[in-house]
Amino acid sequence: MGPNNKVILLRLISLISLITYTECASNYTFSSDFLLGTATSSYQIEGAWNESGKGGNIWDFITHNTPEYVYDESNGDIACDSYHKYEEDVALLKELGVDFYRFSVSWSRIYPNGYPYNPNAEGIAYYNNLIDALLAQNITPMLTMYHWDLPQRLQELGGWTNSYMVQLFTEYARTLLENYSDRIKYWITINEPYQICNQGYGEIAYAPALGMSGRADYLCAHNLLKSHAEVYHLFNDTYRSKNNATMGITLSASWYEPGSSEEEEAAERARQFRIGLYANPIFSTNGDYPQVMKDYIGNQSSAQGLSKSRLPQFTSDEIEYIKGTSDFFGLNHYTSRLTRNSPASNNSVSFDNDLQTEQWFDSSWPMDAAGRNAIVPWGFRKLLAWIKNTYNSPVIHVTENGCPDFGELEDNVRVSYYGSYLEALLEAINEDYVDVQSYAAWSLMDNFEWRYGYVYRYGLYYVNMTDPNRPRIAKSSAAFYQDVIANRVVGSYPSLS
Ligand SMILES: *[C@@H]1O[C@H](CO)[C@@H](O)[C@H](O)[C@H]1NC(C)=O
Ligand SMILES: *[C@@H]1O[C@H](CO)[C@@H](O)[C@H](O)[C@H]1NC(C)=O
Ligand SMILES: *[C@@H]1O[C@H](CO)[C@@H](O)[C@H](O)[C@H]1NC(C)=O
Ligand SMILES: *[C@@H]1O[C@H](CO)[C@@H](O)[C@H](O)[C@H]1NC(C)=O
Ligand SMILES: *[C@@H]1O[C@H](CO)[C@@H](O)[C@H](O)[C@H]1NC(C)=O
Ligand SMILES: *[C@@H]1O[C@H](CO)[C@@H](O)[C@H](O)[C@H]1NC(C)=O
Ligand SMILES: *[C@@H]1O[C@H](CO)[C@@H](O)[C@H](O)[C@H]1NC(C)=O
Ligand SMILES: *[C@@H]1O[C@H](CO)[C@@H](O)[C@H](O)[C@H]1NC(C)=O
Repeated sequence: MGPNNKVILLRLISLISLITYTECASNYTFSSDFLLGTATSSYQIEGAWNESGKGGNIWDFITHNTPEYVYDESNGDIACDSYHKYEEDVALLKELGVDFYRFSVSWSRIYPNGYPYNPNAEGIAYYNNLIDALLAQNITPMLTMYHWDLPQRLQELGGWTNSYMVQLFTEYARTLLENYSDRIKYWITINEPYQICNQGYGEIAYAPALGMSGRADYLCAHNLLKSHAEVYHLFNDTYRSKNNATMGITLSASWYEPGSSEEEEAAERARQFRIGLYANPIFSTNGDYPQVMKDYIGNQSSAQGLSKSRLPQFTSDEIEYIKGTSDFFGLNHYTSRLTRNSPASNNSVSFDNDLQTEQWFDSSWPMDAAGRNAIVPWGFRKLLAWIKNTYNSPVIHVTENGCPDFGELEDNVRVSYYGSYLEALLEAINEDYVDVQSYAAWSLMDNFEWRYGYVYRYGLYYVNMTDPNRPRIAKSSAAFYQDVIANRVVGSYPSLS
Protein backbone atom coordinates (compact mmCIF):
# COMPACT_ATOMS: atom_id res chain seq x y z
CA MET A 1 0.00 0.00 0.00
CA GLY A 2 1.45 3.42 -0.97
CA PRO A 3 1.67 6.32 1.44
CA ASN A 4 -1.38 8.10 0.05
CA ASN A 5 -3.57 5.03 0.45
CA LYS A 6 -2.33 4.56 3.98
CA VAL A 7 -3.27 8.13 4.80
CA ILE A 8 -6.72 7.66 3.25
CA LEU A 9 -7.17 4.48 5.26
CA LEU A 10 -6.28 6.30 8.48
CA ARG A 11 -8.88 8.92 7.65
CA LEU A 12 -11.52 6.33 6.84
CA ILE A 13 -11.12 4.43 10.07
CA SER A 14 -11.62 7.59 12.05
CA LEU A 15 -15.16 8.02 13.29
CA ILE A 16 -16.21 11.62 13.44
CA SER A 17 -17.53 12.33 16.91
CA LEU A 18 -21.02 13.72 17.21
CA ILE A 19 -20.98 17.04 18.94
CA THR A 20 -23.91 18.57 20.69
CA TYR A 21 -23.49 22.19 21.58
CA THR A 22 -24.47 22.03 25.23
CA GLU A 23 -22.42 24.70 26.89
CA CYS A 24 -20.37 23.61 29.88
CA ALA A 25 -18.60 25.80 32.39
CA SER A 26 -16.78 25.13 35.59
CA ASN A 27 -16.70 27.25 38.69
CA TYR A 28 -13.22 26.31 39.83
CA THR A 29 -10.33 28.59 38.97
CA PHE A 30 -6.60 28.08 38.49
CA SER A 31 -4.69 29.72 41.33
CA SER A 32 -2.28 32.50 40.40
CA ASP A 33 0.76 30.28 41.03
CA PHE A 34 -0.55 27.39 38.89
CA LEU A 35 1.44 27.29 35.64
CA LEU A 36 -0.29 26.92 32.26
CA GLY A 37 1.86 26.24 29.21
CA THR A 38 2.49 24.18 26.10
CA ALA A 39 5.01 21.51 25.11
CA THR A 40 7.05 20.40 22.08
CA SER A 41 10.12 18.24 21.45
CA SER A 42 13.28 18.76 19.43
CA TYR A 43 12.96 16.17 16.64
CA GLN A 44 9.27 16.93 16.14
CA ILE A 45 9.74 20.67 15.47
CA GLU A 46 13.34 21.73 14.87
CA GLY A 47 14.26 20.43 11.42
CA ALA A 48 17.80 21.53 10.39
CA TRP A 49 18.65 17.86 10.74
CA ASN A 50 22.17 18.18 9.31
CA GLU A 51 22.92 21.85 9.98
CA SER A 52 25.29 23.63 12.35
CA GLY A 53 27.21 20.52 13.30
CA LYS A 54 24.26 18.34 14.37
CA GLY A 55 24.85 14.59 14.10
CA GLY A 56 22.35 11.95 12.99
CA ASN A 57 19.93 10.45 15.51
CA ILE A 58 17.76 7.32 15.47
CA TRP A 59 14.84 9.21 13.92
CA ASP A 60 17.01 10.60 11.12
CA PHE A 61 18.23 7.06 10.58
CA ILE A 62 14.89 5.26 10.52
CA THR A 63 13.11 7.88 8.38
CA HIS A 64 15.95 8.06 5.84
CA ASN A 65 16.60 4.33 5.60
CA THR A 66 13.04 3.02 5.77
CA PRO A 67 10.77 5.90 4.72
CA GLU A 68 7.79 3.50 4.57
CA TYR A 69 8.08 3.16 8.35
CA VAL A 70 6.21 6.50 8.54
CA TYR A 71 2.60 6.49 7.25
CA ASP A 72 3.01 9.42 4.87
CA GLU A 73 6.72 8.66 4.28
CA SER A 74 7.63 12.04 5.75
CA ASN A 75 10.43 12.88 8.17
CA GLY A 76 11.68 15.61 10.51
CA ASP A 77 14.38 16.98 8.18
CA ILE A 78 12.61 20.34 8.16
CA ALA A 79 9.53 19.76 10.36
CA CYS A 80 8.32 23.17 11.66
CA ASP A 81 11.79 24.61 11.00
CA SER A 82 11.92 25.81 14.59
CA TYR A 83 15.71 25.76 14.49
CA HIS A 84 15.41 28.87 12.32
CA LYS A 85 12.02 30.10 13.49
CA TYR A 86 12.28 29.89 17.28
CA GLU A 87 11.70 33.63 17.64
CA GLU A 88 8.38 33.20 15.83
CA ASP A 89 7.53 30.32 18.19
CA VAL A 90 8.26 32.51 21.20
CA ALA A 91 5.96 35.16 19.69
CA LEU A 92 3.17 32.54 19.48
CA LEU A 93 3.75 31.60 23.11
CA LYS A 94 3.56 35.28 24.04
CA GLU A 95 0.31 35.61 22.10
CA LEU A 96 -1.14 32.62 23.99
CA GLY A 97 0.03 34.19 27.24
CA VAL A 98 1.60 30.99 28.61
CA ASP A 99 3.39 30.90 31.95
CA PHE A 100 5.90 28.30 30.72
CA TYR A 101 7.13 26.41 27.68
CA ARG A 102 8.37 22.84 27.74
CA PHE A 103 10.91 21.96 25.02
CA SER A 104 13.62 19.32 24.65
CA VAL A 105 17.29 19.42 23.73
CA SER A 106 18.54 17.38 20.78
CA TRP A 107 21.43 15.29 22.11
CA SER A 108 23.13 15.02 18.70
CA ARG A 109 23.05 18.83 18.34
CA ILE A 110 25.19 19.02 21.51
CA TYR A 111 27.29 15.87 20.97
CA PRO A 112 27.01 14.88 17.28
CA ASN A 113 27.90 11.21 17.78
CA GLY A 114 26.81 10.99 21.40
CA TYR A 115 30.25 10.82 22.97
CA PRO A 116 30.88 13.60 25.48
CA TYR A 117 33.90 15.30 23.91
CA ASN A 118 33.97 18.88 22.60
CA PRO A 119 30.35 20.02 22.74
CA ASN A 120 29.14 21.60 19.52
CA ALA A 121 29.18 25.35 20.21
CA GLU A 122 26.38 26.08 17.73
CA GLY A 123 24.15 23.52 19.43
CA ILE A 124 24.83 24.98 22.87
CA ALA A 125 24.15 28.46 21.46
CA TYR A 126 20.79 27.50 19.93
CA TYR A 127 19.30 26.57 23.30
CA ASN A 128 20.96 29.57 24.98
CA ASN A 129 19.17 31.78 22.47
CA LEU A 130 15.85 29.98 22.93
CA ILE A 131 16.05 30.16 26.72
CA ASP A 132 16.99 33.86 26.63
CA ALA A 133 14.17 34.66 24.19
CA LEU A 134 11.67 32.93 26.50
CA LEU A 135 12.93 34.70 29.62
CA ALA A 136 12.81 38.04 27.81
CA GLN A 137 9.05 37.46 27.44
CA ASN A 138 8.64 36.29 31.03
CA ILE A 139 8.01 32.69 29.93
CA THR A 140 9.54 30.06 32.21
CA PRO A 141 11.51 27.43 30.28
CA MET A 142 11.02 23.76 31.24
CA LEU A 143 13.84 21.71 29.73
CA THR A 144 13.62 18.01 28.81
CA MET A 145 17.04 16.42 28.36
CA TYR A 146 15.92 13.38 26.38
CA HIS A 147 12.81 13.16 24.22
CA TRP A 148 13.61 10.11 22.06
CA ASP A 149 16.24 11.39 19.60
CA LEU A 150 19.21 9.23 20.58
CA PRO A 151 22.43 9.82 18.61
CA GLN A 152 22.53 6.99 16.05
CA ARG A 153 26.07 5.92 16.98
CA LEU A 154 24.89 5.14 20.51
CA GLN A 155 22.09 2.98 19.13
CA GLU A 156 24.72 1.00 17.30
CA LEU A 157 26.21 0.21 20.72
CA GLY A 158 22.83 -1.18 21.78
CA GLY A 159 21.30 2.09 22.92
CA TRP A 160 19.53 1.88 26.28
CA THR A 161 20.11 -1.88 26.51
CA ASN A 162 23.81 -1.10 27.09
CA SER A 163 24.67 -0.21 30.70
CA TYR A 164 27.37 2.17 29.39
CA MET A 165 24.46 4.51 28.60
CA VAL A 166 24.34 5.48 32.28
CA GLN A 167 27.74 7.14 31.97
CA LEU A 168 27.09 8.66 28.52
CA PHE A 169 23.74 10.13 29.51
CA THR A 170 25.18 11.55 32.72
CA GLU A 171 28.00 13.30 30.85
CA TYR A 172 25.55 14.76 28.34
CA ALA A 173 23.32 15.90 31.22
CA ARG A 174 26.30 17.47 32.99
CA THR A 175 26.94 19.63 29.93
CA LEU A 176 23.33 20.83 29.92
CA LEU A 177 23.48 21.53 33.66
CA GLU A 178 26.80 23.38 33.26
CA ASN A 179 25.48 25.56 30.47
CA TYR A 180 21.85 26.18 31.39
CA SER A 181 21.32 25.76 35.12
CA ASP A 182 21.75 29.48 35.76
CA ARG A 183 18.39 29.96 33.97
CA ILE A 184 16.41 26.69 34.16
CA LYS A 185 14.07 26.07 37.10
CA TYR A 186 12.33 22.94 35.81
CA TRP A 187 14.36 20.01 34.50
CA ILE A 188 13.01 16.76 33.10
CA THR A 189 15.54 14.00 32.57
CA ILE A 190 13.68 11.59 30.30
CA ASN A 191 10.35 11.74 28.50
CA GLU A 192 8.10 8.63 28.50
CA PRO A 193 10.28 5.60 29.29
CA TYR A 194 7.34 3.32 28.40
CA GLN A 195 7.30 4.58 24.80
CA ILE A 196 11.11 4.48 24.60
CA CYS A 197 11.59 0.98 25.99
CA ASN A 198 8.36 -0.98 25.71
CA GLN A 199 7.24 0.48 22.40
CA GLY A 200 10.62 1.24 20.80
CA TYR A 201 12.70 -1.76 21.95
CA GLY A 202 9.88 -4.20 22.77
CA GLU A 203 7.53 -3.25 19.92
CA ILE A 204 8.17 -1.38 16.68
CA ALA A 205 5.95 1.62 17.36
CA TYR A 206 8.90 4.02 17.77
CA ALA A 207 12.56 4.08 16.73
CA PRO A 208 14.71 2.01 17.00
CA ALA A 209 11.75 -0.36 16.37
CA LEU A 210 13.55 -3.47 17.63
CA GLY A 211 10.49 -5.66 18.33
CA MET A 212 12.17 -7.66 21.11
CA SER A 213 9.30 -7.69 23.57
CA GLY A 214 9.82 -9.28 26.98
CA ARG A 215 13.61 -8.92 26.71
CA ALA A 216 15.00 -5.66 25.27
CA ASP A 217 12.23 -3.60 26.91
CA TYR A 218 13.23 -4.73 30.42
CA LEU A 219 16.96 -4.18 29.78
CA CYS A 220 16.17 -0.71 28.47
CA ALA A 221 14.00 0.10 31.50
CA HIS A 222 16.75 -1.04 33.86
CA ASN A 223 19.48 1.16 32.35
CA LEU A 224 17.14 4.07 31.84
CA LEU A 225 16.12 4.12 35.52
CA LYS A 226 19.79 4.01 36.58
CA SER A 227 20.64 6.80 34.12
CA HIS A 228 17.85 8.97 35.43
CA ALA A 229 18.93 8.39 39.04
CA GLU A 230 22.56 9.23 38.35
CA VAL A 231 21.61 12.50 36.68
CA TYR A 232 19.25 13.37 39.53
CA HIS A 233 22.02 12.83 42.10
CA LEU A 234 24.40 14.98 40.05
CA PHE A 235 21.76 17.71 39.99
CA ASN A 236 20.84 17.33 43.63
CA ASP A 237 24.44 17.42 44.83
CA THR A 238 25.88 20.12 42.59
CA TYR A 239 23.41 22.14 40.55
CA ARG A 240 20.10 22.45 42.41
CA SER A 241 21.16 25.49 44.42
CA LYS A 242 22.24 27.49 41.37
CA ASN A 243 18.68 28.45 40.59
CA ASN A 244 16.65 26.78 43.37
CA ALA A 245 15.55 24.40 40.63
CA THR A 246 13.64 21.10 40.62
CA MET A 247 14.18 17.99 38.54
CA GLY A 248 11.91 15.07 37.70
CA ILE A 249 11.08 12.39 35.18
CA THR A 250 8.05 12.37 32.86
CA LEU A 251 6.04 9.14 32.64
CA SER A 252 3.21 8.45 30.22
CA ALA A 253 0.11 6.96 31.75
CA SER A 254 -3.30 6.03 30.47
CA TRP A 255 -5.99 5.27 33.03
CA TYR A 256 -6.83 1.52 33.20
CA GLU A 257 -10.43 1.09 34.26
CA PRO A 258 -11.67 -2.42 35.15
CA GLY A 259 -13.79 -3.85 32.32
CA SER A 260 -16.19 -5.23 34.98
CA SER A 261 -16.33 -5.38 38.76
CA GLU A 262 -14.38 -8.67 38.68
CA GLU A 263 -11.48 -7.10 36.83
CA GLU A 264 -10.08 -4.65 39.39
CA GLU A 265 -7.04 -6.87 39.94
CA ALA A 266 -6.34 -7.06 36.20
CA ALA A 267 -6.68 -3.28 35.89
CA GLU A 268 -4.33 -2.69 38.82
CA ARG A 269 -1.83 -5.16 37.31
CA ALA A 270 -1.93 -3.23 34.04
CA ARG A 271 -1.30 0.05 35.96
CA GLN A 272 1.67 -1.56 37.73
CA PHE A 273 3.18 -2.99 34.53
CA ARG A 274 2.71 0.14 32.49
CA ILE A 275 3.16 2.92 35.04
CA GLY A 276 4.62 1.19 38.12
CA LEU A 277 7.49 -0.32 36.11
CA TYR A 278 9.02 3.17 36.12
CA ALA A 279 7.16 4.87 38.97
CA ASN A 280 7.60 2.25 41.70
CA PRO A 281 11.43 2.35 41.74
CA ILE A 282 11.41 6.16 41.98
CA PHE A 283 8.24 7.21 43.82
CA SER A 284 7.23 4.33 46.13
CA THR A 285 8.29 3.98 49.76
CA ASN A 286 10.07 0.67 49.19
CA GLY A 287 11.50 1.34 45.74
CA ASP A 288 12.29 -1.46 43.26
CA TYR A 289 9.99 -2.88 40.57
CA PRO A 290 6.39 -3.64 41.52
CA GLN A 291 6.05 -7.02 43.30
CA VAL A 292 3.36 -8.11 40.82
CA MET A 293 5.83 -7.67 37.94
CA LYS A 294 8.54 -9.64 39.71
CA ASP A 295 6.01 -12.44 40.36
CA TYR A 296 4.44 -12.62 36.91
CA ILE A 297 7.63 -12.23 34.88
CA GLY A 298 9.53 -14.57 37.21
CA ASN A 299 6.91 -17.28 36.83
CA GLN A 300 6.66 -16.89 33.06
CA SER A 301 10.45 -17.01 32.80
CA SER A 302 10.70 -20.22 34.80
CA ALA A 303 7.86 -21.78 32.80
CA GLN A 304 9.97 -20.95 29.74
CA GLY A 305 12.90 -22.88 31.20
CA LEU A 306 15.02 -19.90 32.23
CA SER A 307 16.96 -20.05 35.47
CA LYS A 308 16.62 -16.29 36.01
CA SER A 309 13.80 -13.82 35.43
CA ARG A 310 13.86 -11.80 32.22
CA LEU A 311 13.19 -8.79 34.47
CA PRO A 312 16.66 -7.75 35.70
CA GLN A 313 17.21 -7.36 39.45
CA PHE A 314 18.38 -4.26 41.23
CA THR A 315 20.85 -4.70 44.08
CA SER A 316 19.70 -3.25 47.39
CA ASP A 317 22.17 -0.38 46.91
CA GLU A 318 20.66 0.38 43.53
CA ILE A 319 17.16 0.34 44.99
CA GLU A 320 18.22 2.93 47.57
CA TYR A 321 20.09 4.97 44.94
CA ILE A 322 17.04 5.23 42.63
CA LYS A 323 14.38 5.77 45.30
CA GLY A 324 13.27 9.38 45.74
CA THR A 325 15.10 10.71 42.69
CA SER A 326 12.35 12.95 41.39
CA ASP A 327 11.10 16.20 42.89
CA PHE A 328 7.84 15.81 40.99
CA PHE A 329 5.85 13.29 38.97
CA GLY A 330 5.88 14.50 35.35
CA LEU A 331 2.73 13.09 33.75
CA ASN A 332 1.84 12.75 30.08
CA HIS A 333 -1.78 11.67 29.73
CA TYR A 334 -3.96 11.19 26.66
CA THR A 335 -6.67 8.56 27.17
CA SER A 336 -8.17 5.67 29.20
CA ARG A 337 -8.85 2.00 28.52
CA LEU A 338 -10.98 -0.79 29.91
CA THR A 339 -9.02 -3.81 31.08
CA ARG A 340 -9.61 -7.52 31.69
CA ASN A 341 -7.61 -10.65 32.39
CA SER A 342 -6.33 -12.47 29.34
CA PRO A 343 -4.21 -15.50 30.23
CA ALA A 344 -0.98 -15.93 28.25
CA SER A 345 -2.11 -17.45 24.97
CA ASN A 346 1.06 -19.48 24.45
CA ASN A 347 4.54 -19.80 25.83
CA SER A 348 6.09 -17.06 23.68
CA VAL A 349 8.16 -14.31 25.27
CA SER A 350 6.46 -10.93 25.28
CA PHE A 351 5.50 -8.11 27.61
CA ASP A 352 1.82 -8.83 26.89
CA ASN A 353 2.23 -12.50 27.74
CA ASP A 354 3.88 -11.43 31.00
CA LEU A 355 1.13 -8.92 31.82
CA GLN A 356 -1.78 -11.17 30.79
CA THR A 357 -4.44 -8.53 30.28
CA GLU A 358 -6.09 -6.89 27.31
CA GLN A 359 -7.22 -3.30 27.01
CA TRP A 360 -9.76 -1.58 24.81
CA PHE A 361 -11.89 1.55 24.41
CA ASP A 362 -15.49 1.27 25.50
CA SER A 363 -17.71 1.68 22.44
CA SER A 364 -19.78 4.33 24.23
CA TRP A 365 -16.81 6.66 24.75
CA PRO A 366 -16.51 9.54 22.26
CA MET A 367 -13.42 9.39 20.03
CA ASP A 368 -11.13 12.23 18.99
CA ALA A 369 -11.49 13.60 15.45
CA ALA A 370 -8.72 11.32 14.13
CA GLY A 371 -10.27 8.19 15.66
CA ARG A 372 -7.05 7.48 17.57
CA ASN A 373 -7.99 7.86 21.24
CA ALA A 374 -11.13 7.90 23.36
CA ILE A 375 -12.00 11.12 25.19
CA VAL A 376 -12.45 10.19 28.86
CA PRO A 377 -11.96 13.18 31.17
CA TRP A 378 -13.08 11.27 34.27
CA GLY A 379 -10.25 8.79 33.60
CA PHE A 380 -7.77 11.68 33.91
CA ARG A 381 -9.25 12.57 37.30
CA LYS A 382 -9.10 8.93 38.48
CA LEU A 383 -5.50 8.60 37.31
CA LEU A 384 -4.46 11.75 39.20
CA ALA A 385 -6.09 10.41 42.39
CA TRP A 386 -4.42 7.01 41.87
CA ILE A 387 -0.97 8.63 41.55
CA LYS A 388 -1.64 10.62 44.72
CA ASN A 389 -2.73 7.55 46.68
CA THR A 390 -0.11 5.16 45.31
CA TYR A 391 2.95 7.41 45.61
CA ASN A 392 2.39 9.51 48.75
CA SER A 393 0.97 12.67 47.20
CA PRO A 394 3.82 13.76 44.96
CA VAL A 395 3.86 17.17 43.31
CA ILE A 396 2.56 16.53 39.78
CA HIS A 397 3.39 18.48 36.64
CA VAL A 398 1.14 17.52 33.74
CA THR A 399 3.78 17.75 31.04
CA GLU A 400 1.55 16.70 28.10
CA ASN A 401 -2.17 16.40 27.38
CA GLY A 402 -3.97 16.74 24.07
CA CYS A 403 -5.68 15.02 21.15
CA PRO A 404 -5.14 14.60 17.40
CA ASP A 405 -7.17 15.46 14.34
CA PHE A 406 -6.23 15.94 10.68
CA GLY A 407 -5.44 19.64 10.95
CA GLU A 408 -8.81 21.43 11.05
CA LEU A 409 -8.66 25.14 11.84
CA GLU A 410 -12.07 25.03 13.53
CA ASP A 411 -11.01 22.22 15.81
CA ASN A 412 -14.09 21.98 18.01
CA VAL A 413 -13.35 18.45 19.19
CA ARG A 414 -9.98 19.65 20.50
CA VAL A 415 -11.72 22.57 22.25
CA SER A 416 -14.07 20.06 23.92
CA TYR A 417 -11.15 17.82 24.82
CA TYR A 418 -9.21 20.63 26.49
CA GLY A 419 -12.31 22.04 28.17
CA SER A 420 -13.36 18.72 29.68
CA TYR A 421 -9.85 17.59 30.67
CA LEU A 422 -9.04 20.94 32.28
CA GLU A 423 -12.28 20.71 34.28
CA ALA A 424 -11.38 17.19 35.39
CA LEU A 425 -7.99 18.57 36.45
CA LEU A 426 -9.62 21.34 38.50
CA GLU A 427 -11.86 18.75 40.18
CA ALA A 428 -8.83 16.59 41.01
CA ILE A 429 -7.12 19.61 42.58
CA ASN A 430 -10.14 20.98 44.44
CA GLU A 431 -12.09 17.85 45.37
CA ASP A 432 -9.44 15.11 45.55
CA TYR A 433 -6.64 17.44 46.79
CA VAL A 434 -4.13 16.22 44.22
CA ASP A 435 -1.04 18.47 44.24
CA VAL A 436 -0.90 19.40 40.55
CA GLN A 437 1.22 22.51 39.95
CA SER A 438 1.32 22.89 36.18
CA TYR A 439 -0.31 21.81 32.92
CA ALA A 440 1.18 21.73 29.41
CA ALA A 441 -1.03 21.38 26.33
CA TRP A 442 0.47 19.07 23.72
CA SER A 443 1.24 20.75 21.47
CA LEU A 444 2.04 24.36 20.69
CA MET A 445 1.78 23.60 16.97
CA ASP A 446 1.28 20.74 14.51
CA ASN A 447 4.51 18.77 14.21
CA PHE A 448 6.08 15.48 13.20
CA GLU A 449 3.96 12.88 15.00
CA TRP A 450 6.51 10.05 14.81
CA ARG A 451 5.15 7.07 12.89
CA TYR A 452 2.09 9.10 11.88
CA GLY A 453 4.20 11.77 10.20
CA TYR A 454 2.15 14.88 9.50
CA VAL A 455 -1.16 12.98 9.34
CA TYR A 456 -2.15 13.30 13.00
CA ARG A 457 -2.05 16.93 14.10
CA TYR A 458 -1.93 17.95 17.78
CA GLY A 459 -1.28 21.70 17.51
CA LEU A 460 -3.03 24.75 18.91
CA TYR A 461 -1.52 26.32 15.80
CA TYR A 462 -1.81 24.82 12.33
CA VAL A 463 1.46 24.48 10.41
CA ASN A 464 1.38 24.21 6.62
CA MET A 465 3.98 21.53 5.93
CA THR A 466 4.02 22.06 2.17
CA ASP A 467 4.75 25.79 2.41
CA PRO A 468 8.53 26.35 2.62
CA ASN A 469 7.91 29.15 5.12
CA ARG A 470 5.96 26.83 7.44
CA PRO A 471 3.45 29.53 8.44
CA ARG A 472 1.70 29.00 11.79
CA ILE A 473 -2.04 29.76 11.93
CA ALA A 474 -4.07 29.89 15.16
CA LYS A 475 -6.85 27.27 15.42
CA SER A 476 -10.05 27.71 17.47
CA SER A 477 -8.34 25.82 20.29
CA ALA A 478 -5.61 28.49 20.49
CA ALA A 479 -8.23 31.15 21.20
CA PHE A 480 -9.90 28.88 23.75
CA TYR A 481 -6.65 28.17 25.60
CA GLN A 482 -5.60 31.82 25.44
CA ASP A 483 -8.87 32.64 27.23
CA VAL A 484 -8.28 29.92 29.88
CA ILE A 485 -4.83 31.35 30.60
CA ALA A 486 -5.97 34.97 30.69
CA ASN A 487 -8.98 34.35 32.93
CA ARG A 488 -7.69 31.37 34.96
CA VAL A 489 -11.03 29.59 34.40
CA VAL A 490 -12.27 27.03 31.86
CA GLY A 491 -14.60 28.88 29.52
CA SER A 492 -17.62 27.28 27.87
CA TYR A 493 -17.02 24.61 25.27
CA PRO A 494 -19.15 22.22 23.20
CA SER A 495 -19.83 19.01 25.11
CA LEU A 496 -19.23 15.65 23.44
CA SER A 497 -21.81 12.92 23.44
C1 LIG B 1 -21.51 27.04 39.10
O1 LIG B 1 -22.15 27.88 40.01
C2 LIG B 1 -23.50 28.18 39.67
C3 LIG B 1 -24.02 29.21 40.64
O2 LIG B 1 -23.65 28.91 41.95
C4 LIG B 1 -24.32 26.87 39.72
O3 LIG B 1 -25.65 27.11 39.35
C5 LIG B 1 -23.70 25.89 38.73
O4 LIG B 1 -24.35 24.64 38.83
C6 LIG B 1 -22.21 25.69 39.01
N1 LIG B 1 -21.63 24.89 37.94
C7 LIG B 1 -20.94 23.80 38.17
C8 LIG B 1 -20.39 23.10 36.94
O5 LIG B 1 -20.71 23.34 39.27
C1 LIG C 1 21.48 18.30 4.46
O1 LIG C 1 20.45 17.47 3.99
C2 LIG C 1 19.81 17.96 2.82
C3 LIG C 1 18.66 17.04 2.52
O2 LIG C 1 17.74 17.10 3.57
C4 LIG C 1 20.82 18.03 1.68
O3 LIG C 1 20.20 18.58 0.55
C5 LIG C 1 21.98 18.91 2.11
O4 LIG C 1 22.99 18.88 1.13
C6 LIG C 1 22.58 18.43 3.42
N1 LIG C 1 23.54 19.40 3.91
C7 LIG C 1 24.74 19.05 4.35
C8 LIG C 1 25.59 20.16 4.86
O5 LIG C 1 25.11 17.89 4.38
C1 LIG D 1 29.15 24.26 28.43
O1 LIG D 1 29.49 22.89 28.69
C2 LIG D 1 30.80 22.54 28.26
C3 LIG D 1 30.98 21.05 28.55
O2 LIG D 1 30.70 20.77 29.89
C4 LIG D 1 31.85 23.36 28.97
O3 LIG D 1 33.12 23.05 28.44
C5 LIG D 1 31.54 24.82 28.77
O4 LIG D 1 32.44 25.58 29.54
C6 LIG D 1 30.13 25.13 29.19
N1 LIG D 1 29.84 26.53 28.94
C7 LIG D 1 29.48 27.33 29.93
C8 LIG D 1 29.17 28.72 29.53
O5 LIG D 1 29.35 26.94 31.08
C1 LIG E 1 12.84 27.50 46.33
O1 LIG E 1 11.69 26.96 45.71
C2 LIG E 1 10.73 26.48 46.61
C3 LIG E 1 9.59 25.88 45.79
O2 LIG E 1 10.08 24.95 44.89
C4 LIG E 1 10.22 27.60 47.49
O3 LIG E 1 9.32 27.08 48.43
C5 LIG E 1 11.40 28.26 48.19
O4 LIG E 1 10.95 29.40 48.89
C6 LIG E 1 12.46 28.67 47.20
N1 LIG E 1 13.64 29.17 47.91
C7 LIG E 1 14.27 30.25 47.56
C8 LIG E 1 15.49 30.59 48.34
O5 LIG E 1 13.90 30.96 46.63
C1 LIG F 1 4.17 -18.03 40.75
O1 LIG F 1 4.57 -19.36 41.04
C2 LIG F 1 4.46 -19.68 42.42
C3 LIG F 1 5.09 -21.05 42.61
O2 LIG F 1 4.56 -21.94 41.66
C4 LIG F 1 2.98 -19.63 42.82
O3 LIG F 1 2.85 -19.92 44.18
C5 LIG F 1 2.45 -18.23 42.55
O4 LIG F 1 1.06 -18.17 42.81
C6 LIG F 1 2.71 -17.81 41.13
N1 LIG F 1 2.37 -16.40 40.99
C7 LIG F 1 1.77 -15.91 39.93
C8 LIG F 1 1.51 -14.44 39.95
O5 LIG F 1 1.46 -16.59 38.97
C1 LIG G 1 19.20 15.63 47.83
O1 LIG G 1 20.06 16.44 48.61
C2 LIG G 1 19.56 16.69 49.91
C3 LIG G 1 20.45 17.72 50.56
O2 LIG G 1 21.78 17.39 50.40
C4 LIG G 1 19.52 15.38 50.66
O3 LIG G 1 19.00 15.58 51.96
C5 LIG G 1 18.61 14.41 49.91
O4 LIG G 1 18.61 13.14 50.53
C6 LIG G 1 19.06 14.25 48.48
N1 LIG G 1 18.08 13.46 47.74
C7 LIG G 1 18.34 12.23 47.31
C8 LIG G 1 17.23 11.52 46.63
O5 LIG G 1 19.42 11.70 47.44
C1 LIG H 1 1.96 -16.22 20.88
O1 LIG H 1 1.50 -15.02 21.51
C2 LIG H 1 2.13 -13.86 21.01
C3 LIG H 1 1.72 -12.68 21.89
O2 LIG H 1 0.41 -12.77 22.32
C4 LIG H 1 1.72 -13.69 19.54
O3 LIG H 1 2.33 -12.53 19.01
C5 LIG H 1 2.20 -14.90 18.77
O4 LIG H 1 1.77 -14.83 17.44
C6 LIG H 1 1.67 -16.19 19.39
N1 LIG H 1 2.32 -17.32 18.75
C7 LIG H 1 1.65 -18.41 18.36
C8 LIG H 1 2.48 -19.49 17.73
O5 LIG H 1 0.44 -18.51 18.51
C1 LIG I 1 -0.11 25.26 2.09
O1 LIG I 1 0.91 25.82 1.33
C2 LIG I 1 0.82 25.50 -0.05
C3 LIG I 1 2.09 26.01 -0.73
O2 LIG I 1 2.31 27.37 -0.39
C4 LIG I 1 -0.45 26.11 -0.61
O3 LIG I 1 -0.60 25.74 -1.96
C5 LIG I 1 -1.63 25.57 0.19
O4 LIG I 1 -2.82 26.21 -0.21
C6 LIG I 1 -1.44 25.80 1.67
N1 LIG I 1 -2.51 25.11 2.40
C7 LIG I 1 -3.22 25.70 3.36
C8 LIG I 1 -4.27 24.88 4.02
O5 LIG I 1 -3.04 26.86 3.69
